[in-house]
Amino acid sequence: MRKFIVAGNWKMNTTVPEGVQLAKDVVAKAAECLPANVELVVAPPFTHLFPVAEVLKGSKVHLSAQNCADHVKGAYTGEVAVDMLTSVGCEYTILGHSERRQYYGETDEKLVEKTKLALEAGLKVILCVGENLDEREAGKHFDVVTAQTKNVLYNFSAEDMAKVVIAYEPVWAIGTGKTATAEQAQEIHACIRSVVAEKFGAKVADDMTILYGGSCKPSNAKELFAQKDIDGGLIGGAALKAEDFLGIATSF
Ligand code: PGA
Repeated sequence: MRKFIVAGNWKMNTTVPEGVQLAKDVVAKAAECLPANVELVVAPPFTHLFPVAEVLKGSKVHLSAQNCADHVKGAYTGEVAVDMLTSVGCEYTILGHSERRQYYGETDEKLVEKTKLALEAGLKVILCVGENLDEREAGKHFDVVTAQTKNVLYNFSAEDMAKVVIAYEPVWAIGTGKTATAEQAQEIHACIRSVVAEKFGAKVADDMTILYGGSCKPSNAKELFAQKDIDGGLIGGAALKAEDFLGIATSF
């Protein structure tokens, strides 16, 4: 069964008290209006995970990290390991966000390592893929997204895929207010699903949750989520207000 998921990527926003308040607001709103068939996830900064986990206890909201280290433990100053994430109650980690690829040199090879460690630790992975503007304008978007998906996921088993969510985020749509049209998103989502099917079979591909991300907001979520291969969203800016975030989660 395919799951619908709306995940909020807070990026490097909010102080700890602000983040705790936001989490409380999300929990309260989710209790009021979250549809039973939608899973809600928040991904605060590392510093917030422990207090936010406390807020989420007993609620309908799940906890994610935004990244993890590519080593289990040891002398890696400034990094955060998968066991640290599970020990504070993280259920998910986002991996391969375009901002990590672009600003922090995250390669597909590194993402294979990170995905392996995350899955072994029992975390579910939200793997981000997506083309930049130059690649889109050169007509390479299908190739880029296909390669990113294969380079990471083809190193894993069909069973592992039950713990993987893919987020298609066209880089030109992230934080720009420019959303991919529902048709543009749908055709890439269908392509990603076929790439998954090619290696792991139709059933695994059919069960895979594929999120759209990039300037998704309450006003455009409905049209995006109405597409047959779009199973929810990875939300940046609009996840920083509980009302907008839940406005998106109620758009199915
Ligand atoms: P945005 O970010 O919703 O602010 O465009 C999405 C993301 O980067 O995950």
